[in-house]
Amino acid sequence: MKALFRKKSLTALMTQAEEKEHSLKRVLGPLNLTLLGIGGIIGAGIFVLTGQAAAQYAGPAIVLSFIISAVGCAFAGLCYAEFASMIPIAGSAYTYSYATIGELLAWIIGWDLILEYLFGAATVSVGWSGYVVSFLRDFGVNIPAALSQAPFAFSHSAGWTSTGAVMNLPAVFIIAAVTGLLVVGISESAKVNDLAVAAKVIVIILFIVFGVAHVNSANWHPFIPENTGVFGQFGWSGIARGAGVIFFAYIGFDAVSTAAQEAKNPQRDMPIGILASLVVCTILYILVALVLTGIVKYDRLLVPDPIAVGVDAAGPALFWLRKFIKVGAIAGLSSVMLVLLLGQPRIFYAMSLDGLLPPLFSKVHPRFRTPHITTVVTGSVAALLGGLFPIGALGEMVSIGTLLAFAIVCVSILVLRKSHPELKRPFKTPLVPLVPVLGAVISLAQMAFLPWATWLRLIAWMAIGASIYFLYGRHNSKLAPLKPDDWNKEPST
Ligand code: ALA
Repeated sequence: MKALFRKKSLTALMTQAEEKEHSLKRVLGPLNLTLLGIGGIIGAGIFVLTGQAAAQYAGPAIVLSFIISAVGCAFAGLCYAEFASMIPIAGSAYTYSYATIGELLAWIIGWDLILEYLFGAATVSVGWSGYVVSFLRDFGVNIPAALSQAPFAFSHSAGWTSTGAVMNLPAVFIIAAVTGLLVVGISESAKVNDLAVAAKVIVIILFIVFGVAHVNSANWHPFIPENTGVFGQFGWSGIARGAGVIFFAYIGFDAVSTAAQEAKNPQRDMPIGILASLVVCTILYILVALVLTGIVKYDRLLVPDPIAVGVDAAGPALFWLRKFIKVGAIAGLSSVMLVLLLGQPRIFYAMSLDGLLPPLFSKVHPRFRTPHITTVVTGSVAALLGGLFPIGALGEMVSIGTLLAFAIVCVSILVLRKSHPELKRPFKTPLVPLVPVLGAVISLAQMAFLPWATWLRLIAWMAIGASIYFLYGRHNSKLAPLKPDDWNKEPST
């Protein structure tokens, strides 16, 4: 029993962090970190899911869903900032919980983070496919639906149905391409990434600036469509469910926390990077949601490329913007996949070094110096998911999994303040316990409003994870051979 709560010693973590410090350059300032955050954040959430969530759950009140979700993220972000400045090493929430709550929960959170990173990349690949198909169609190239859609569809009323399609091939293609790039190295892709971030921010601003003139305020009435009688379908429960779904759009700011060792002044700049990227994206998202639901009636937005549909609905005056929007979305979605598919192998790598996953997962390519095996495994599974499943079901899994991780990070802050009050905390979450408690409560509340089917899938996913831990990780953990008294003392890797 006790072994389930064995913790990785903080001394061991700090030693690891200091060792790594010699190999990583502290080059990132507050602006770089903010851009990194924006790079990871703006993607399928705003370019695709806004339309789906407005059409199915909240109507124009999706704007309120965005605000609720942003508040929860800000509280969780403040907790991430404390951890990132205190334990600045790879592994993110997995590492934080190994030091605070113990091995079983660390494993659970590591397993849960697969939903955020790997499933996240798969979700974004489906969004990418939607925009690419629509872009090619503008040039007369038609990719048949059978080869660009998922063979399975899911609706809460009808359950899983077959669409007749074979596979979403563009989604598979882009995951394979990004994976290939990540295996070979990422230094070249950093520049491409900066351009992609610029492109997506510019098209979002263009959409807001030029779209606002085409808003027909009649489309905003009723702002909160009446509940259909089914929980979560419009009305206030729909706004809450919309917040849980649209939460996906904010995922990525936590990726800033993984760059803690590369920040020039993490104490000051980590919170700036995390919070500034959140603020910028929140403002952009609210404006996009307002303009989009103002141009198009929300019930027409259940499409793979809602922003492009918005531009079309504005009429010929905005036709010039169509192609820019699509190029910006395609570039922007690629950069999000890059960030997610880069993060996942790093987490597997940390888990493998701790013995919770086989050593194969921490193998590094002799020439490319990248964790090539985990990168390929991650990419293959993500490609399969992106090729087979619809964006809504995938995105909801990502939201529920990440919300759970956020809730655990918030609780861990409270635990660590009690158990290790003496630790140096370069950045302190303000107003403890209020901020972590609210962060956890809002995250759990958003989870509570997600559909029951998504909960069942989360439970099934966690059950698979727990079995792997009991069959493998528990016995192979680097802490397993140590005596209980030494768990907290000995450097474990
Ligand atoms: N926030 C990221 C997106 O919306 C994951 O694509």
